Amino acid sequence: MLNASQYIKEHIRTVENWPQQGVMFRDITPLLQDPKTFRVLIDLFVHRYMDAKLDMVAGLDARGFIIGSVLAYELNLGFVPIRKKGKLPFTTLSEQYELEYGSATVELHADACKPGDRVVLIDDLIATGGTMMAGKKLLERLGAEVVEGAVIVDLPELGGSKLLKSSGLQLYTVCD
Ligand code: PRP
Ligand code: ADE
Repeated sequence: MLNASQYIKEHIRTVENWPQQGVMFRDITPLLQDPKTFRVLIDLFVHRYMDAKLDMVAGLDARGFIIGSVLAYELNLGFVPIRKKGKLPFTTLSEQYELEYGSATVELHADACKPGDRVVLIDDLIATGGTMMAGKKLLERLGAEVVEGAVIVDLPELGGSKLLKSSGLQLYTVCD
């Protein structure tokens, strides 16, 4: 019998050389397409955070929105989207960062959370850690406390989780 982490891992597909040569892309769409696996994943996150006294769930564009918004709904909390540059209409804060394949900027609305808010930051995957680090910085610039960063997949060989932990961020990763 597989445990939850193994079961979820079995439903993540690796696509070689996408979006560019040398990248082993971890595709979570098979997991999302299968209702049982999607539920197992969401239930893991819900049980982890149900007593964490959170004020908000934040999700990173775009795959962090899929998991983060369902989690927020289940925990009866609000959801904060941290979006790629140029998508948020109100006053924004920005952070630029490097990716496994390129660079990017993420943005957060200036009124997305309040000083002292306890926030969990959700994404699907950590590679170099740049995206999650940028999200953490944005939330902290608003005075929020990032209680934990949570992802489905960690790619430890790319060093992101080590970097994030050394910055003081607590991490929860379902599988690698
Ligand atoms: C992917 C993934 C993470 C990020 C991880 O998103 O969903 O957000 O890369 O990489 P990092 O740890 O090196 O920062 P991507 O930027 O490809 O955008 P998408 O979700 O819109 O596809
Ligand atoms: N984002 C950065 N690297 C990735 C990978 N290898 N698979 C899926 N998403 C990613």
